[in-house]
Amino acid sequence: MRIVLLGPPGAGKGTQARRLAESTGMTHLSTGDMLRSEVASGTELGLLAKKFMDSGDLVPDSNIIAMIQQHIDDPAGVLLDGFPRTIVQAKSLDKALDQISLPVDQVVHMAVDIDELIRRLSSRVVCKECHTPYNLELDPPLESGICDQCAGDVIVRDDDKPDAVKNRMKVYEELTAPVLDYYQLHRNVAEVMATGTPDAVFAKLTKAIGSGAPFN
Ligand code: AP5
Repeated sequence: MRIVLLGPPGAGKGTQARRLAESTGMTHLSTGDMLRSEVASGTELGLLAKKFMDSGDLVPDSNIIAMIQQHIDDPAGVLLDGFPRTIVQAKSLDKALDQISLPVDQVVHMAVDIDELIRRLSSRVVCKECHTPYNLELDPPLESGICDQCAGDVIVRDDDKPDAVKNRMKVYEELTAPVLDYYQLHRNVAEVMATGTPDAVFAKLTKAIGSGAPFN
C-alpha cells in the first residue's frame, strides 16, 4: 500500500506515521527527516535545503522528487509523510507510480485548528545530535535540555521559531492545501480530525485507513 498523510505543520503526521509504521511494518518516508539527515551530513543537498528549511520555505520540487523517487516502490508499502507538498510533486508521484502500475491507495487529511498547531509546535524540542523528538507538554526529556537517548543537547528546531512557523503556515495554505483539492478531485480522501491524545488520533486513523472511506 501507498498511503499519503496530508496536513499542516504540527498536525501529527510524523507522530502517527511512526506509530503506523510500527504497527503495520510499512516503511515511513518523511521528506522532512530525509532532508534533516542530509543537512546533518553536510551533503550538497543538505546545504541547499537548509536555507529553505530554516525559514519555513519549501525545498525546490526537482530536489525533492529526485530524493524520494527511488523509495516509492518499497515492497513493504510506504507511508508518505510531508510528500507530496505541491501540485507538481503530486503529479510527479502519480506519474512515477503509473509507470510501475501502482496506485496511491489512500489519502488521509489530518485536520487540526491553528491554535492547537501553534501550541504543539511551540512545545516541540529535538535532540541536536540524534534528532529524537520530545514535546515539553506530552513527553519531555527526563532531565531538562538533555536527550534521554544520547545525552545530547535538546533544542528548538530553527523552523519551530515563531517567524518560521508563521511562514510555514502561509506556505501550507498557498502551496500544499491545493494538493488536498487535487486529491479530492481524483480520489477518496479520508478526513480525520487529528485532535485529542496521540492514542485517540491513532485509533481514528487506523479506522479511516482500514475502511478506505471518508471518515470524521
Ligand atoms: P517537515 O519535517 O515535514 O515539517 P512539517 O510538515 O511542517 O511537519 P512537522 O514535523 O512540523 O509536523 P507533523 O505534522 O509531522 O507533526 P509531528 O508529529 O511532528 O518538513 C520540514 C521542512 O522540510 C519543510 O518546512 C520544508 O522546508 C522541507 N520539506 C519537507 N518536505 C518537503 C517537500 N515535500 N517539499 C519541499 N520541502 C519539503 O508533531 C508536532 C508536535 O506536536 C510534536 O511535538 C508532537 O509531539 C506533538 N503532537 C503530535 N500529535 C499530538 C496530539 N495528538 N496532541 C498533542 N500534541 C501532539
